[in-house]
Amino acid sequence: MKDTDCIDFLQWALPRLHLRWRGFRRVRRQVCKRISRRMAELGLTDASSYRDYLECHDDEWARLDGLCWISISRFYRDRGVYDFLGQEVLPALIANRHRGARELWAWSVGCASGEEPYGLALVWHFVLGPAHPNLDLRIVATDVDPVLLERARRACYPQGTLKELPLVWRDRAFEERNGRLCLRAVFRGAVRFRRQDLRLARPKEGFDLVLCRNLAFTYFEEGVQRKILERIGGALRPGGALVLGRHERLPEGAAGFAPWSAGHRVYRRAA
Ligand SMILES: C[S@@+](CC[C@H](N)C(=O)[O-])C[C@H]1O[C@@H](n2cnc3c(N)ncnc32)[C@H](O)[C@@H]1O
Repeated sequence: MKDTDCIDFLQWALPRLHLRWRGFRRVRRQVCKRISRRMAELGLTDASSYRDYLECHDDEWARLDGLCWISISRFYRDRGVYDFLGQEVLPALIANRHRGARELWAWSVGCASGEEPYGLALVWHFVLGPAHPNLDLRIVATDVDPVLLERARRACYPQGTLKELPLVWRDRAFEERNGRLCLRAVFRGAVRFRRQDLRLARPKEGFDLVLCRNLAFTYFEEGVQRKILERIGGALRPGGALVLGRHERLPEGAAGFAPWSAGHRVYRRAA
């Protein structure tokens, strides 16, 4: 499928899935390739015939939705954010935790192959853990894509995915297996993976920290973003932190969150 045909198709289809074209513009090639593959499977030769197919097959929309899950991620993505979490956010959350609490809880939403939750576990292990031996960080990591979750549980990565991670952490936390870097078991124990669609549900736990980066506030339309924000607000303890992606912002008129660091897109839930 030609790029221009794919663009026309996505501009027609994405709003019907409550997704926004603006978020997909730069990463459309991943989606276009998948759509081309799906069209070939169906024996369809052009985008307009796939459009006709969608008009007559309601269940194909769920399939198309699945083709739009962007899987791009990497360890320590936008490293300044992770440094800020280690130096400011986590220490503040530790200071404000309920007296006697032995655990902090974090939720990584749209965790892809585990790069984000494991990255957070490494920040805890190397930056905060040594000074807080009686405190643990528990991380619930959710994603809609079962294939990515399976990869996350295996925790083996191509080298390029780790290039932003501090070198000494990489050397201590990973071991090489068959040309891939695999996270040692001791760094995996804090993370629990679950399949969950953020548009439909959230984990039952209460959280001190939520990372919702490069997902809802990029790809979902604004009405859906508001609902998601409410869902996240329901999961976050008062005073807890919400971290967005570097190019994301909260939807217009969002209430209940105050900027913690505008530069790093960190917000604090109103107490
Ligand atoms: C672009 S990746 C971002 C990964 C990571 N948060 C980061 O910033 O590097 C988006 C992730 O969200 C997942 N995702 C897409 N739609 C979702 C949904 N409705 N509910 C939960 N996860 C979803 C995708 O499968 C993918 O793993």
